[in-house]
Formats: sequence, structure tokens, C-alpha cells
Amino acid sequence: VLRPPTPHDLAGLKVVVSAGPTREYLDPVRFISNPSSGKMGFAVAEDARDRGAQVTLVTGPVNLPGPSGMEVVRVESALELRDAVIQAAQDADIVVMTAAVADYRAAEQQHEKQAKVAGDVSIQLTPNPDILAELGSSKGSRVLVGFAMETHAGVERAAVKAARKNADFILLNYPTQEGTAFGGDDNQVTLVRADGTHEDWPRTSKREVARQLLDEALRVREASGA
Ligand code: CTP
Ligand code: CA
Repeated sequence: VLRPPTPHDLAGLKVVVSAGPTREYLDPVRFISNPSSGKMGFAVAEDARDRGAQVTLVTGPVNLPGPSGMEVVRVESALELRDAVIQAAQDADIVVMTAAVADYRAAEQQHEKQAKVAGDVSIQLTPNPDILAELGSSKGSRVLVGFAMETHAGVERAAVKAARKNADFILLNYPTQEGTAFGGDDNQVTLVRADGTHEDWPRTSKREVARQLLDEALRVREASGA
């Protein structure tokens, strides 16, 4: 399908996107993770590139080729993702956190493979840093965008998250929609702002969601006078 020529409305701006899951290793051969495919974040990075932005894509382990025309940083753990995102975000204008960051990592990572033992075992977990909240705590003129997948009370929970993390808006989705969210090519999201105002967007391709996300980020930027 031929699209109209893409406007270069992000020329001169730096956009940082995080994508994919993180892996929290328990020992050298086992990890805690989640099924994030990375597709949503890659779509945002590609749309920003095509609109003329300078793009850094920080991605956890995904089965997607690194897109051309941008800096691609591949990481595994939440701590590695944090370092790469915080560094890239220093001079960024827009930061979009699509990464499904693991909330916890092993309190102690074992350096040798752990043999099984008889009976139950328990693993001590410790919280990972909240990257979006850290960006929000010294926000400056950057536009900050998050994603949230909720099973219930989505708008309320997403609004509270946006406020707590000082994000401009969060795109909310639900794990139950066929063909969307984890692994799918489409997405159906609700835009949620910290003040609780929200807009349901129609189900469409992740690329089109990316385009609308960046349109909204530009509106926020212009409204803030940056
Ligand atoms: N996020 C982050 N760092 C974390 C966890 C989440 O930057 N350690 C970001 C995600 O990339 C996403 C947003 O915060 O853009 C919301 O993620 P979510 O998991 O919904 O938020 P949490 O604060 O972890 O809330 P919950 O207890 O519901 O998991
Ligand atoms: Ca979480």
C-alpha cells in the first residue's frame, strides 16, 4: 500500500525508545522474563526515524532485526536497560518506554548452574529500579510516554501510574484482546493522562499506533512551548 509521503515533522529531535522484555538471570542458564515481542517499540522507533528524528532504540532480547538508520542498543537485564536508557535520554526530546521491564530480579544471582534439590525451593527477589519514574523525577522539557497492560481498572491504574512517574501520558492496553498486545501486529490502546482524561483509539496496526503516539507527543511538546 502506498502511503502519502511522510512529513519530516520530527527533524532535529532526538527520540529514545525502549522495547522488548528484560531477562533477569537466576543462574547462568535460567531467567525470569515475559512474552513481550518488541514489535510496538520497534514500530515507534521506525516511525520516528521516517519522520526525521535521530533515534536510539534500546531493546531487550527480541526476534527482530535491528532497524537501519538508528542507533540500536541490545541489552538483557533491567539494570542494563536502565543504564542505556538513562544515558541516551540525557539529550532526548521524547522518550517512549514500551519495554516490559521485569519488576524484580534475583536478590543474589548464582554464578553456577543450580542443581535441583528435593522439595520446594524459594527465590529471593529484589525490586528493579523504575526507569520511567527516574526519568520523570528530572523531567526537564522532555516528553515522557509509558505503556501499561492492565487486567482491570485500567484507566484509573494508568492515570495513577502516569502521575506517580511524571509521564505525560500512558498508552493502556489489555492482555485479552486477540491479535493485539503481546506478539500481535495490531494494538488497541487507550490514551490516559495523569489527570485521568482518556481517549480510546480504534484497533489498528502497531505502526499506526506509533504514528498517533508521536503525533500526541509533538502536541504535548508544542503545548509546553519547547
Ligand atoms: N517501567 C519502567 N521501569 C520499571 C517498570 C516499568 O520504566 N522497573 C515503565 C514501563 O516501561 C512502562 C511503564 O513504566 O512504560 C508502566 O509499566 P508497568 O509495569 O505498568 O508499571 P509498574 O509501575 O511496574 O506497575 P505494576 O505494579 O502494575 O507492574
Ligand atoms: Ca511492572
